[in-house]
Amino acid sequence: MKNWAEKYRPKKINEIVGQKEAIEKVKSFLLNFPGKKKAIILNGLSGIGKTTIVHAMSNEINSEIFELNASDLRNKSSMNLRLKPVLEQQPLFEKNKIILVDEVDGISGTDRGGVSELVSLIESSKYPIICTSNDTWTQKLSPLRKKCEIIELKEISPSEIKGVLKMILENEKKEINPETLNQISIKSNGDLRSAINELETISELGKKEIIEIYEKPKKMDIFHAMKHIFQDQAEVEMTSTFDRVDMPIDEILLWIEENLPKVYSGVELFKAYEQLAKVDLFKGRIYRQQYWRFLVYENFFLSFGISESK
Ligand SMILES: Nc1ncnc2c1ncn2[C@@H]1O[C@H](COP(=O)(O)OP(=O)(O)O)[C@@H](O)[C@H]1O
Ligand SMILES: [Mg+2]
Repeated sequence: MKNWAEKYRPKKINEIVGQKEAIEKVKSFLLNFPGKKKAIILNGLSGIGKTTIVHAMSNEINSEIFELNASDLRNKSSMNLRLKPVLEQQPLFEKNKIILVDEVDGISGTDRGGVSELVSLIESSKYPIICTSNDTWTQKLSPLRKKCEIIELKEISPSEIKGVLKMILENEKKEINPETLNQISIKSNGDLRSAINELETISELGKKEIIEIYEKPKKMDIFHAMKHIFQDQAEVEMTSTFDRVDMPIDEILLWIEENLPKVYSGVELFKAYEQLAKVDLFKGRIYRQQYWRFLVYENFFLSFGISESK
């Protein structure tokens, strides 16, 4: 039996919650293919509709999906073998095709070859290529980013999540405590798949303790982390933001440095640079004294400090 998350995966575009902008961009990419870029990356946290959008869109425009995974990409000859029947199909019987590389960040760091295979596939492909990723901003995907239009997906809002959960409960003729329903909607942090999984487990077991598993912080990509620091109200909790980003602090510093002048100006920018100077100061101290405790300060100025400058 299918789990609820699968059972309620939208088949049609208009059943997808949120993601309007992203959907429009995907559609225009496919309908105008080949345009400036021959590939796109749908980027965002897990459980927000990336894979769903691709499949629903292919139904809508009557295309066929051909899926490649990270291990196909590792080996050029096996990939070509897999692609051959697709590429050689008689035009007469030809249906439009979309090549999907789902979860492209699954190409591991040691697999440089995989990324460059994908890049050359994009260059030669007659068909549009759609990649999905949880964090497209990692170093190893940088050659791929240059070839792709990047489309960011948003986390699903608690009220949208609640709407989907209510629809499912109604359909399944089940009920749960309204307070628990609210909690699932909020604590799933925009991840609709995990919210649906949680709902299914709770309504089966009648347990609400399970909600606690959401308490551990989720990974965040550098893009969302910067947005949080630059745009949201400064709060002390922000100090833990970069703990959630899977990137060395020195690289995070570079991202911040580069983007700061694009979002701040005048006195704000000046204040933010002062914070960066402090980061540098502590970096030097850490280096000279090998005293890692100073990392805490580095992190503090880089997150809360920068945020509070505005
Ligand atoms: N935007 C959305 N609208 C409706 N359902 C969604 C949406 N995003 C996720 N879901 C639900 O979560 C499940 C997983 O979504 P999926 O598209 O596979 O996520 P991912 O972003 O990880 O690729 C779907 O089967 C569906 O039940
Ligand atoms: Mg997916």
